[in-house]
Parts: sequence; structure tokens; C-alpha cells
Amino acid sequence: MSRPPLIARTLPALSKALDRLRARQSSIALVPTMGALHDGHISLVRLARRRADRVVVSIFVNPTQFAPHEDLASYPRTWKTDLAKLTHAGVDLVWNPDASLMYPADFATRVEVAGPAVCGLEDRFRPHFFGGVATVVAKLLTQTRPDFAVFGEKDFQQLKVVTRMARDLDLGVKVVGAPIVRERDGLAMSSRNVYLSAADRATATVLHRVLKDSAARLRAGAAFETTLAAGADIIARAGFALDYLEARHADTLAPAATLGEGPVRLLVAARIGTTRLIDNMKV
Ligand code: PAJ
Repeated sequence: MSRPPLIARTLPALSKALDRLRARQSSIALVPTMGALHDGHISLVRLARRRADRVVVSIFVNPTQFAPHEDLASYPRTWKTDLAKLTHAGVDLVWNPDASLMYPADFATRVEVAGPAVCGLEDRFRPHFFGGVATVVAKLLTQTRPDFAVFGEKDFQQLKVVTRMARDLDLGVKVVGAPIVRERDGLAMSSRNVYLSAADRATATVLHRVLKDSAARLRAGAAFETTLAAGADIIARAGFALDYLEARHADTLAPAATLGEGPVRLLVAARIGTTRLIDNMKV
């Protein structure tokens, strides 16, 4: 049975806990999360443990990345089970600051990101999102000063944005990407999957299926435009409102129209009922 992690909720407590973890020159990996932890998050923790001597997980539902019409108030909060999972996974420290600590009333700074943050995918539908993510991740990284920070490929554009920001701001952290963890039927795990009705949950597998079939077709030489149009049609017919299904260069996120242009990634975002799902796959 693992020991429960240290828990810090103030900056002095965080500082003291980090000093303890860093004794004997231990390396540290940070896994930033918003809680409501599932096996996707835990896979990031496992990867972090392979990379570093000590693992810190932050749990903070970050208000600045939600638009007013989005689900900040109803975002699932499951502290007790999160802590049990992190204990089992052997995490050393949980950083769980309050919103008023992260954003005091006179807070006046926002990190502005471009490049992968304005490539026309998530940013087209959630224009507030990456500024909020960049701001909170910059704070979490400066608060914890880890050697590694682990982010999931599930949020592929976010991984690119954070990687770029860490380099641009010389944050001295190595950003590590972790593969997508899926349910048995292929649906990418997400804290928001709990919002799905039973019928929508069954329909939701279409996203993974379309990604898999489209990637196979493209690899077999099919034309990008017709393949993606057919995929979009299947997703719409299943009952989704499609935000995008696109092929992008896996490094730059620039639009890709052939396989010859380098590694290609398919990315999808679609809404069913009141839930918005995203997924992606390597071609
Ligand atoms: P959250 O949605 O809680 O996700 C935390 C991390 O878990 C992210 O890096 C995300 O990509 C990863 N993740 C989620 N589902 C996954 C899955 N099925 N497989 C692999 N990794 C998965 O992403 C955020 O929080 C926030 O934007 C945050 C970075 C914490 C900033 O507030």
C-alpha cells in the first residue's frame, strides 16, 4: 500500500514540500490536471514516474480557460476518489491551490500565445481557451519548477501550445507527450464523458471509428479531401454537430493535403447533446 501524497494548498506549503522532494538532487515531474481523474490521467502519472524520481500532480479547475457559457460550475469535482487514485499511483505531492490564490482580485496578467494556438482548430471554437491554459500552465510551472511536465496527446493542440510556450519563455522544463488512453470501445477517456447520456455514449464511439478508418484509407493512398468529407458525413449522420475533422502536420499543425508533407495527424471535435468531444490520431 502506497503512502498518501503530501498535499499543498498554499505557496509556502508547496515550497516546503518541494524542498523535501528535491533533497538529494531528485528530479521532479509535474502532471497538471483539473481533477476528475480517470485512467488517462493516471497513465500520465505512470509516465512521469518513469521519467523522474518524484511526481507532483496539480489539481486545479482553471476558471480562465472556460468561457462564460461553458461548464466551469458543473465541471466534475471528485477530490476523494482523485486522492485515492493518486495514492495508489504513488504520487509524492498534490498541488491543489484555490482560485483566489491563483487569481487574486487584482490579478492583471495573461500569457498570449500564437503559433500552434492560432492554427484554426480549437481556437476557432474556444477563442479564450489557450490564453487561459497558457497562463495557468506558466504559473504551475513557475510554482513547481519541475524538470519534466507531462501532457496528454488527447489534447493535441494544447500539447503543442505548451511545448512552444515552454521553449519561448525558457521555462527550463522538458514537456513530454503521453499517448491517448481509450475505453474498450475506442472512446478517448475524458472527464467530460460523464455528461453523456447512455444513447450519446453509444454514439460517441463513431469519432474513434472515423479517425481509424480515415487514417487507414489515407495510408492506403486515398485522397485527403474525399476521405475527410466522407468521415465528416458519417459523424454528422450519427447525430453529432461537427466542429472540425481535419488533417494537419503533426509538428506544426499546418493544414496537410498529402502524406508526403511529413507526419500527419487527424483531429476531430464534435458536439452531441450538450457535450463537446475531441479526439485525434496519427496517420
Ligand atoms: P485535464 O482535462 O484534466 O487533463 C489533464 C491532462 O490529462 C492533459 O494533459 C490531458 O491531455 C491529459 N488527458 C486527458 N484525457 C486523456 C486521455 N484519454 N489519454 C491521455 N491523456 C489524457 O488538460 C487540462 O486538464 C487542462 O487544460 C490543464 C492542462 C490542466 C490546464 O488547466
